Amino acid sequence: MEEKVVYDFDTVISRLGTQAEKYDARKQFYGKPDVEPFWVADMDLPSPAFLSEALHDRVNHSLFGYTEQDPSLFEAIRWWMKDQHGVEASPEMMSLSPSVVSTISMAIEAFTQPAEQVVILSPVYGPFFSTVKLHERKVVDCPLVLDAGRYEINWEAVEIALRDSETTLLLLCNPQNPSGRVWQADELKRLAILCKENGVVLFSDEIHSDIVYAPAKHVSVLTVPEARDHCVMAHSIGKTFNASGLKSSFSIVPNPVLRNRLRRAHRRAHSDNINLLGKVAITQLLSTDGAEYKRQLCAYLHETTRQVVEKLGSVEGLVPMQPEATFLVWCDFRAKGDWQTVSKRLIEEANVALSGGTFFGPAGEGWFRINCGHSRAQLLPAVDRICRVFA
Ligand SMILES: Cc1ncc(COP(=O)(O)O)c(C=O)c1O
Repeated sequence: MEEKVVYDFDTVISRLGTQAEKYDARKQFYGKPDVEPFWVADMDLPSPAFLSEALHDRVNHSLFGYTEQDPSLFEAIRWWMKDQHGVEASPEMMSLSPSVVSTISMAIEAFTQPAEQVVILSPVYGPFFSTVKLHERKVVDCPLVLDAGRYEINWEAVEIALRDSETTLLLLCNPQNPSGRVWQADELKRLAILCKENGVVLFSDEIHSDIVYAPAKHVSVLTVPEARDHCVMAHSIGKTFNASGLKSSFSIVPNPVLRNRLRRAHRRAHSDNINLLGKVAITQLLSTDGAEYKRQLCAYLHETTRQVVEKLGSVEGLVPMQPEATFLVWCDFRAKGDWQTVSKRLIEEANVALSGGTFFGPAGEGWFRINCGHSRAQLLPAVDRICRVFA
């Protein structure tokens, strides 16, 4: 019997000199080149060794010309989505894309006209706003409502926004970045029905869907019958396997008309293929070995996020959210002063670079997001510094 691999997430691996944005852009965004970075949402934890081995094998071949899209890629995606998320999807529903944000961008182009409206529920990943604006469409923000420390959908605002004839697309972050909220089947059903009634395409960004902590369970929009014929689901190996630099993602669209519109937009932008190392990665990672890596990673991150929430929550006036998903902890610092002052203290006194809440829209003002995808040896002393500064 083969011995089970036990992944080591405790060893700190330096990323200096690897063009890592999280490290190399510190001076530009925080004014301090040696501030400890817990901002950009990639992890400082290693991908599985079997991925590196497969990439080495491919690189050793030494020919890197144009590539086709082998059926094995789509079979790997089909298997993963069925095994991990209970999704039934056939290969013809799938398309490759360099990144989830690229698919968002193409969906905006495919399903909306200039000046039309795109609904988003903030606080949410910044490019949900910026990509819509870059396409000269209008953002209709329906901020989530805080109820007993948990974000809820403002149904009244969403219904009004979706009924507006100028609204043609809803961008949903499922599970939600920055809060780690997992949307439930009944919530997705209600959103899907509202979108259908109003002729709105439901785009579900499920990039964080593999890192979910029991008893919470990810519900893909593709398993919601009311959503199947007017939804786009986008996912990637980026977050799950810390492989965002490989620029390899995919979408699944059951409705052939919508799928062809999205594909045409990708073709116009020549973004309908991915790099060859990404293809090797997808076929290797979306596998039983990948599932075992993911299981161990989730166990590590669950305990890490639990400890971070406990530490921050022990400081009066700091209110962290326990994430149900993602390696991110979203924390309310509003009791500690205006966000500019808090931000300065985080950088100068605690020596940490966090993601400031306004990146996630006006509803995020005064909040900060801590990336917990680090070894505990690196992360926990930094969290202790934050606690000391704000105690
Ligand atoms: C919700 C969400 N979508 C998309 C992305 C970016 O994905 P990609 O690099 O595939 O564009 C991120 C990265 O943080 C994210 O949090």
